[in-house]
Amino acid sequence: MQIRARLGISADGYVTTPNGWPAQTADPAFASGQSHGIREFLADCEAALMGRTTFEPALTNSRWPWPDLDVFVLGSRRPEGTPDHVTTDSDPVRLLEKVRAANRGGDVHLIGGPRTIGTFHALGALDRLELVVVPMLFGGGMRLTPALSPDADLTFLSQRALPGGSVEIVYSCTGSREDLPDKPASQR
Ligand SMILES: NC(=O)c1ccc[n+]([C@@H]2O[C@H](COP(=O)([O-])OP(=O)(O)OC[C@H]3O[C@@H](n4cnc5c(N)ncnc54)[C@H](OP(=O)(O)O)[C@@H]3O)[C@@H](O)[C@H]2O)c1
Repeated sequence: MQIRARLGISADGYVTTPNGWPAQTADPAFASGQSHGIREFLADCEAALMGRTTFEPALTNSRWPWPDLDVFVLGSRRPEGTPDHVTTDSDPVRLLEKVRAANRGGDVHLIGGPRTIGTFHALGALDRLELVVVPMLFGGGMRLTPALSPDADLTFLSQRALPGGSVEIVYSCTGSREDLPDKPASQR
């Protein structure tokens, strides 16, 4: 199992638009059906992990966004209307244990937002940071940093041009795994 954060990001470094929407949703290619590589990415994933702020809009969506994934949410309270099959916890270490206990060998999509990615990175649990740079300038919005520290210890793994003008960049988070005493070798 790998924990993989994957985020859209504008060319000037914002992961949300100025009004808080994930960066890739502002890309005109998104409206015309471009998936920004998410389908291939999700083929390796069995679970979605996110913060409460990122999760809550799904409760009023007409369509459940993660029909094929186990869903885990970090937050101090369980939002009203959360389906029974969603696991919530206020403690990131405990939530991580639940994610690992449920894991059947697939990867975990760490959806975000920045605060939750920063939390799991600080715990040494983030294996991959995957950025999809959309060809847009926002001039404002949320940044991945400072929640994700500048000494993130990223190692470049791959890049890929996506249809529609975006570029996918994948880093491994090298400081993350070996020093985690509670992580079984089979899950590193
Ligand atoms: N560009 C992209 O691909 C992308 C992807 C996902 C999200 N986003 C954007 O990111 C924004 C939300 O990001 P965000 O960072 O504000 O929120 P977030 O990470 O989604 O959720 C934050 C919440 O998670 C819980 N949490 C986080 N760290 C914790 C910790 N250490 N201990 C306990 N609880 C913790 C807290 O819940 P409680 O308040 O309940 O305690 C906190 O308020 C949205 O605008 C969304 O659109 C962008």
